Amino acid sequence: MASIRMRAVSKRYGKTESLAVDRVDLDIAEGEFVVLLGPSGCGKTTTLRLVAGLERVSGGELSFDDHLMTDVPPEGRNVGMVFQNYALDPHMTVFRNLAFGMQARRTAKAEIGRRVWSGLTRAGSARRALSTRRAQLTEAT
Ligand SMILES: Nc1ncnc2c1ncn2[C@@H]1O[C@H](COP(=O)(O)OP(=O)(O)O)[C@@H](O)[C@H]1O
Ligand SMILES: [Mg+2]
Repeated sequence: MASIRMRAVSKRYGKTESLAVDRVDLDIAEGEFVVLLGPSGCGKTTTLRLVAGLERVSGGELSFDDHLMTDVPPEGRNVGMVFQNYALDPHMTVFRNLAFGMQARRTAKAEIGRRVWSGLTRAGSARRALSTRRAQLTEAT
């Protein structure tokens, strides 16, 4: 994990240069849990996409642990992002959904097991995750 710092970060979209994010200053400490709350269209998703590098900032500076990330592409940022929809495979078990990203990065099997298990234990849903498919979750929980 890392700390995140945004300084006067702005995002303008498209030819019209409409302003989606307006000079955001934000500090998130390593391990801190932060929620962005606001009405639809206020720029929450855009802010997250800027952190992940899926959008380029139009102005300001974004750093992780004091390293300037503004021009670093998404694959160089080590940021994971789960969208509201589509990110989870309904046919895989919860365990396999969580393991998928690490498998893609060729993390050692034992380490994947350890990290998935540790996250699930914290979330209090470890046992069910082994066998429940994502598509069954609404019925199962
Ligand atoms: N790809 C895009 N192209 C143009 N405008 C966009 C795009 N994505 C979002 N916007 C606009 O940027 C503003 C912020 O959107 P968004 O970040 O999705 O807000 P939120 O997630 O808070 O609902 C909105 O006015 C939205 O219409
Ligand atoms: Mg959104």
